[in-house]
Amino acid sequence: MSNIVLIGFRGTGKTVIGKAVAKKLKRGFVDSDDLVVEMAGKSIPKIFGEDGEKKFREIEAKVIEKISKKDNLVIATGGGVPCSAKNVENLKKNGIVFLLEASAGIIFSRIQSDSNRPSLTGKKNKFGEVLHLLKERKPFYENAADFRIKTEGFSVRENAVQIIGIFNKEAEV
Ligand code: S3P
Repeated sequence: MSNIVLIGFRGTGKTVIGKAVAKKLKRGFVDSDDLVVEMAGKSIPKIFGEDGEKKFREIEAKVIEKISKKDNLVIATGGGVPCSAKNVENLKKNGIVFLLEASAGIIFSRIQSDSNRPSLTGKKNKFGEVLHLLKERKPFYENAADFRIKTEGFSVRENAVQIIGIFNKEAEV
């Protein structure tokens, strides 16, 4: 059966909701960031710091290509994945794509003190970076999404149940 693919900005809950969906459906779970780290043999901040974002995106594209060929997975993707048309094309070959959404304020409060998430714009002002990137990425996220899921005001469990409900309905068609 198709993969369940979660996309969205940093801090929208892709990993935690993805794990909950996988557990309920007894499916395997993969996080593209983890596989990038595995392939590169170093942490995300190290890849960005030593090799640059371009190299990170190259490894990420390889990871996406590889996992898109599998079945029955729940896939949480890094926040920049939908910005590449090739990544989206690969993921959609065998996946239903759910966009997790949250406001800039919530995203900021969740990610502000996370040292594992390097700055993507060099902006010192992290809230400014969130606003800027959210605006820039909005069309990519919306274009890639089959379904949009609001995360604010919902528990992880509620979001997981919602995603599973939509997925099961889609699978019947
Ligand atoms: C990125 C998001 C991160 C990670 C990398 C780049 C981005 O993943 O892939 O730091 O471009 O938004 P999360 O969305 O899981 O934090």
